Amino acid sequence: MLAIIGGSGLTRLATLELLERKRLTTPYGEPSAALSMGRLGGRPVAFLARHGDEHTLAPHRVNYRANLWALRECAATAIVAVAAVGGIRSDLRPGDLVIPHQIIDYTWGRHSTYHEGPDSVVTHVDFTEPYDPQLRRQIGDAAAALGMRVSDAAVYAATQGPRLETAAEINRLERDGADVVGMTGMPEAVLARELGLPYAAINVIANHAAGRGDSRQRVSMEAIHAVLEGAMQQVAAIIERMLKSHD
Ligand code: HPA
Repeated sequence: MLAIIGGSGLTRLATLELLERKRLTTPYGEPSAALSMGRLGGRPVAFLARHGDEHTLAPHRVNYRANLWALRECAATAIVAVAAVGGIRSDLRPGDLVIPHQIIDYTWGRHSTYHEGPDSVVTHVDFTEPYDPQLRRQIGDAAAALGMRVSDAAVYAATQGPRLETAAEINRLERDGADVVGMTGMPEAVLARELGLPYAAINVIANHAAGRGDSRQRVSMEAIHAVLEGAMQQVAAIIERMLKSHD
């Protein structure tokens, strides 16, 4: 069963036929919200709002370990993560969708492994390809079938937040090779890997990253929310379509 983790702008899936809300506790604490178990386009799915149902959890306060653990508990076998990002690459504009293929992690102080604690065996998971290629392809094929243009490769920089970046920080991320910047991609992706859950992401460009774009204006949250509202309807359509080819 596919599970969707919804980010800013996607705290619920309007087209989900809700069957059950599951409130779980995990060995790592409480997930961000109750899991919504239901059907989308006739297929079973689980949905979890990453920042909580009322969007109250900042990126550094999300319990990523509990979220992924709870989804696996509820029989999720693959994860599609939806997240708003800032666009660094010059061809990316607000409202565009990207399917990232690589990550650079700049976060700190987050619980980023299940393999810690006195009785844990030190484990180093392979993370050469952080996103699952088959899931990425399914997302790309679904978007193409709907006639939507998505960018099918991007390097995602995961920053700590909750503040947005400085213009100089964005210049540095670009020199590092990053195309988009967000605050929630890690440790979510690596925890999915540790649990053996294939994971891919749909990123929605909410804004030009700091110091970028024609106007070189400050990043405004009002503008971000307006962009996300429209783009998330496209994301929901892609997910519904990809479910047709997902077991
Ligand atoms: N930076 C980091 N995270 C973000 C941004 C941004 O500009 N926009 C949406 N999430």
